[in-house]
Amino acid sequence: MEPHRPPAATLHTHPSLALVKYWGKSARGHNRPLTPSLAMNINRLTTSICVWRCASADEERVMCDGEETPRALFRRNYRPFLAHCRARFRRPRDFWRVQIDNDYPLAAGLASSSAIYAGIALAINAALGGQEKQGAVSAIARYGSASAARAVFGGVACLPARAHRAYCYAPPHHWPELRLIVARCAAGQKPISSREAMRHSKSTSPLFAEWRRRAPRWYREARIAMRARDLERLGGAMQQSYLTMFATMHTACPPIFYWEPQSIAIIKEAQRLRKSGVAVWETMDAGPQVKLLTLAAEVPGVLRALHSHLPPNHCIVSELGGGWYAAE
Ligand code: PMV
Repeated sequence: MEPHRPPAATLHTHPSLALVKYWGKSARGHNRPLTPSLAMNINRLTTSICVWRCASADEERVMCDGEETPRALFRRNYRPFLAHCRARFRRPRDFWRVQIDNDYPLAAGLASSSAIYAGIALAINAALGGQEKQGAVSAIARYGSASAARAVFGGVACLPARAHRAYCYAPPHHWPELRLIVARCAAGQKPISSREAMRHSKSTSPLFAEWRRRAPRWYREARIAMRARDLERLGGAMQQSYLTMFATMHTACPPIFYWEPQSIAIIKEAQRLRKSGVAVWETMDAGPQVKLLTLAAEVPGVLRALHSHLPPNHCIVSELGGGWYAAE
């Protein structure tokens, strides 16, 4: 994009995948979550971000996977975010060109927006000499996407209800045996953004109030289980969280369905594996992909079972990621 000038900063980030979900925005403050979430940093999906300074807001552009982002998307999402960065970094005359490269599909329920907005905020901070601490960068990233507040941190991150920033709950080495298998069940972009889907569920689902009431319980449970490295307890909280989140979508008017036949086949496979004594629990986000939480020793058996439904290259095995890192 800017072949003649080296970028002001280049770095890599990973998505923040929620084990206990946030779903719904608080009326208090921009993009603050209504429900608390606990997430893991996914080290096998990577977003690379380069930023260059430019002369004015009119010259700001975002290139994503080799293409300039459509003007409407730029105006709706990226322009306000770059303006927010200017205000929050107290650099009113800093304008930015951004290049984003992902090694996984965008807007497909793989939490790409968490890695992208965290990456842009972190890269601008790096270009400014690291003037802000991670907590402040997390609050800035949240403006782009609430899950991005978590993706600033490696390991396990928590974003409490109504919080303005996330924090690191456990470092990457906390649970070396923990694995998350991302099973890509369908290609293509999701039909409706998570932002729109949560707004619609909140305003039309009769189950939304119940979701909101119960969500803190699963969050507390997941924190205890994560601390104790108790997969069964964590898996139980995780499953209740995603299924109740989807219940609000399935009962919205009109309903929202992200699940594809392949997603259901994988959910049933996980259930079958559990019945046969394998420690594996699934979760899903706003998209058709299924993510399976398990332990390193179980991975070969789980992959064998998944391969009867999906080609091997549709299953990616991640550990707890270390968070962002600067390019060489
Ligand atoms: O923060 P957003 O707008 O990317 O929404 C994230 C929504 C979920 O992925 C479904 C849940 C979560 O906590 O990440």
